[in-house]
Amino acid sequence: MQGQLIERPKSDEVREYKMLIGGEWVDAQSGKTFETINPYTGRAWARVPEAGEEDVDRAVRAAREAFDEGPWGKMTGTERARLMRRLAELIAENADDIAVVESTDNGKLIREMGGQLNALPEWYYYFAGAADKIQGETIPSHNSNFFVYTRREPIGVVGAIVPWNSPLLLLTWKLAPALAAGCTFVAKTAEQTPASTFEFAKLFEEAGFPPGVFNVITGYGSTTGAPLVRHPGVDKVAFTGSTETGKQVMKDAADHLAKVTLELGGKSPNIVFEDADMEAAANGVVAGIFAATGQTCMAGSRLIVQESLHDELVERLTEKANSIKLGDPLDEETEMGPIAFKEQLDKVQGYINTGQEEGAQLKYGGKPPEAPELQDGFFMQPTILTNVDNEMTVAREEIFGPVLSVIPASSEEEIIRQANDTPYGLGAAVWTKDVQRAHRVAHALKAGTVWINAYRAVSFTAPFGGYKQSGIGRENGLESLKEYTQVKTVWVELSGETRDPFTLG
Ligand code: NAI
Ligand code: MG
Repeated sequence: MQGQLIERPKSDEVREYKMLIGGEWVDAQSGKTFETINPYTGRAWARVPEAGEEDVDRAVRAAREAFDEGPWGKMTGTERARLMRRLAELIAENADDIAVVESTDNGKLIREMGGQLNALPEWYYYFAGAADKIQGETIPSHNSNFFVYTRREPIGVVGAIVPWNSPLLLLTWKLAPALAAGCTFVAKTAEQTPASTFEFAKLFEEAGFPPGVFNVITGYGSTTGAPLVRHPGVDKVAFTGSTETGKQVMKDAADHLAKVTLELGGKSPNIVFEDADMEAAANGVVAGIFAATGQTCMAGSRLIVQESLHDELVERLTEKANSIKLGDPLDEETEMGPIAFKEQLDKVQGYINTGQEEGAQLKYGGKPPEAPELQDGFFMQPTILTNVDNEMTVAREEIFGPVLSVIPASSEEEIIRQANDTPYGLGAAVWTKDVQRAHRVAHALKAGTVWINAYRAVSFTAPFGGYKQSGIGRENGLESLKEYTQVKTVWVELSGETRDPFTLG
């Protein structure tokens, strides 16, 4: 659909963005800005304010004021839901244009972004539907003189820190439940991909939310992200990013005991048993590691395959990798776009080299493609490493790129052991036609999400989050509302009598 609010990027433009704080579009107080790069052309295409500590403070104050004093705090769930549905309509009207902006900023395929942005309104509809169903309980008291009930109240000001791989989707996983709960919000976008969130903020304004409910700032991790986490006015930090940064965020939040949800890295096993539907499994492996150029927290980066099937599956994957069409992310035909920024490309190449040094065999890919039209972009070939041992660096660390590590294994027991032998626990998949085995293995895997004969399915209705070092808390589903509310217990004395002041209860 075509809306009026979002302008598609033009080829030679460098557009200027401002931040939204307390309902006003503002520059950084220092006047500092930085450029954001189109990873397909390698050229700057937008310029954004670089927020410093003083801007963080201003944004948190605006959110605090909107929460404590503004009309938002007095609205009912039904009233908040009305605004959320209006926002959802505006997103739907402008989805195709925002998709182009996001794709220009992070190089993600328009093929995927179009779908993602067109699905985005559903998150706001779903959580709008939940906004007036956030309810407490009446609690039976041990003492008949008391009437006890709970209220589920909003946690307050949320500081959200989002990475570059799916900026608006990962923002929405936080924002939609936070709005339903009645929180106010400061979003810190990733420094590499701030543009689509600024565009989204226009829709938010247009929807008619009171000023200060949603504020957007951008800047670097240490000078914008960290001050936001440490700000005493932030009641809850919602973070998606690397495990390393997540640990730092949790430490910083601990200084003022802000609540945290952390959606972190993964090294997710994609397990193929010998009785699997081979073609479906091969497609699932491609979806798990080459879709989105492997830049997803849930990437199925370890293929654990039963030995008897190994050679045949690897051959099929190699053929599939060979046929993947690399190119312009804005071209609907393209299947793999560039890596989002140069440093990330260098990092991916480094891992591929390390893998080979440690004894993995390069079966396919392993370097940037040679096609002349791909030389400006940050491209990497889809890469398959075989003979990987679970102890190797490429099997232990999150690469966040299109690099598949193939680990052969024998029995079901051995496969489960290998799959769980990782510090992470975000996703996992099991490919088999044996329904008993499918559930048995799904139950044994230590991961927040297990797909059976599928990969990379997510929904607003279904909780998503990590076991072990993949995170804390859950996003999506009614489960996520708990992360943005807190319980207040109210005691009402019914008898009207005076009580002995020196007893409890
Ligand atoms: P990162 O985790 O450092 O950055 C994510 C977000 O956190 C960005 O908005 C960043 O500005 C912010 N940030 C950084 N340091 C911070 C701090 N001390 N306090 C508060 N906020 C802070 O990830 P980055 O640097 O973008 O990528 C590094 C690696 O992390 C990637 O190579 C990839 O392996 C992994 N990664 C994993 C993601 C996931 O969803 N699992 C998402 C993005 C990156
Ligand atoms: Mg970083």
